[in-house]
Amino acid sequence: MQNKFEQIEKEVRNCQKCPLAATRLNVVPGEGSISSHILFIGEAPGAAEDETGKPFCGRAGKVLDELLFKAGLKRNDIYISNILKCRPPGNRNPKDEEIKACSGYLDRQVDLIKPKIIGCLGNFSTRYIMEKFGLKNRAQGISKIHGQVFITPVSQGSIKIVPLYHPAVVTYNANMISVLEKDFSMLKNIPK
Ligand code: URA
Ligand code: SF4
Repeated sequence: MQNKFEQIEKEVRNCQKCPLAATRLNVVPGEGSISSHILFIGEAPGAAEDETGKPFCGRAGKVLDELLFKAGLKRNDIYISNILKCRPPGNRNPKDEEIKACSGYLDRQVDLIKPKIIGCLGNFSTRYIMEKFGLKNRAQGISKIHGQVFITPVSQGSIKIVPLYHPAVVTYNANMISVLEKDFSMLKNIPK
């Protein structure tokens, strides 16, 4: 399994499948424990991640670290990935065609990790994952469905999908931290 992960990382490092390859400094394939039962999926690398190649290492990452700590989750024990592996210039939203070009890598990561729980950080991640797992007709904006647990059958049993606000919202609106803390604190009580 380690080998298969390294293979994905190698392909991502060499990937030229969308125009973001031309402007990235580093790819950000994902990081953490590949045997984790919980997988967090963000949107795309920002400036700090583009510089280091590591997911959630900038301001949003600080917020995420605090949320994980308060929820009793260790960053080393979980896996964190993103919909896009390269930074959109100026942190603009991902384009549909970029998501289409890149999502095969995330799909393979999900297939290998076989998480019991997926924490979707923000609207793009929520939409992609809910569609992927046949929950398209129940997907709504994050303000409507954050903190809900959507259970869906998969070959190894079932998977629980939890839409969460993106940690970056706290950098725009500090009051949002309490909403995020409440949602994150519930994650460790979800039965595996
Ligand atoms: N925001 C994201 O969605 N992902 C990162 O890795 C960093 C910031
Ligand atoms: Fe390839 Fe994804 Fe990077 Fe586009 S964003 S170049 S598809 S790794």
